[in-house]
Amino acid sequence: LTILSKMRPLVLFDFHGVPMIQRFTTNWEKIQNFQARPDDILIATYPKAGTTWVSYILDLLYFGQTSPERQTSIPLSERVPFLELTVSPTNSGVDKAENITTSPRLIKTHFPVQFVPKSFWEQNCKIIYVARNAKDNMVSFFHFDRMALTQPDPGDWSSYFKRFLEGKLLYGSWYDHVNGWWKKKQTDNKIHYMFYEDMIEDTGHEIDKLCGFLGLSLSVEEKKRISGGVQFDNMKRNNMVNYSTSQVMDFKISPFMRKGKVGDWKNHFTVAQNEEFDEDYKQTMKNSPLKFHWEV
Ligand code: A3P
Repeated sequence: LTILSKMRPLVLFDFHGVPMIQRFTTNWEKIQNFQARPDDILIATYPKAGTTWVSYILDLLYFGQTSPERQTSIPLSERVPFLELTVSPTNSGVDKAENITTSPRLIKTHFPVQFVPKSFWEQNCKIIYVARNAKDNMVSFFHFDRMALTQPDPGDWSSYFKRFLEGKLLYGSWYDHVNGWWKKKQTDNKIHYMFYEDMIEDTGHEIDKLCGFLGLSLSVEEKKRISGGVQFDNMKRNNMVNYSTSQVMDFKISPFMRKGKVGDWKNHFTVAQNEEFDEDYKQTMKNSPLKFHWEV
């Protein structure tokens, strides 16, 4: 970990208009030529919006009953490959996805909508998008960038705050991301758009809506079991989903399952930052129909 933290990729580069790092672009052709299968399910998010949470829910919905050993022996990050991630020439999200023999394949991405390989659209795949309010999303991303040593060094909070507003973090502008996906959803009924805050408020209801979209029906007991298993404390304790098996995260700096709350931004934003944020947000989001909850 010490060696890794010294090797941090400090520099983001502009990639088709989006700040990126190499491990998410190096395999670009291969990623863009990815062959989706019609029953693939793509989980798309801006980083730290609840990817792991929804991935685990989907994994339990499809495989919770049929393969219990999957739950106890395979880390979630192996079950749900990260499409654009390339760790080494022989270890990439695309390879992992191609090697999956079970159906449906669950695949995650943080790509803005314009980067999604065309095959997902051609095959009419179902896509689950999760959005989280920008303030909490920013705070969560900051702590993740501190502890995930393959992420760009976040620097201090006030500079991070500025870069978020300028859309200069990895994967670019949060504003473009949530709005780009929302716009796409208006013309594509294969996209289910969810909010982190709604999942916090009523996980069971969000699972019901998800099942409606996916065409799944759950028994009352099964639903209870899943909503219970995916509660924050249970996931935090579950070594197959809490990233404790990761080689590149330093939990001494911050755990992956950090707080899991709506409104933690209040512990990070100064009053002045909050005013600056709100002012900027009003402008940037003035044409957006999206409404977020900042607290529950
Ligand atoms: P915090 O850093 O605010 O705690 P992602 O999976 O997209 O990387 O998002 C991680 C964020 O989702 C973290 O937010 C993490 O704690 C939160 N999270 C993961 N599972 C959760 C759950 N079951 N309930 C609430 N929040 C959860």
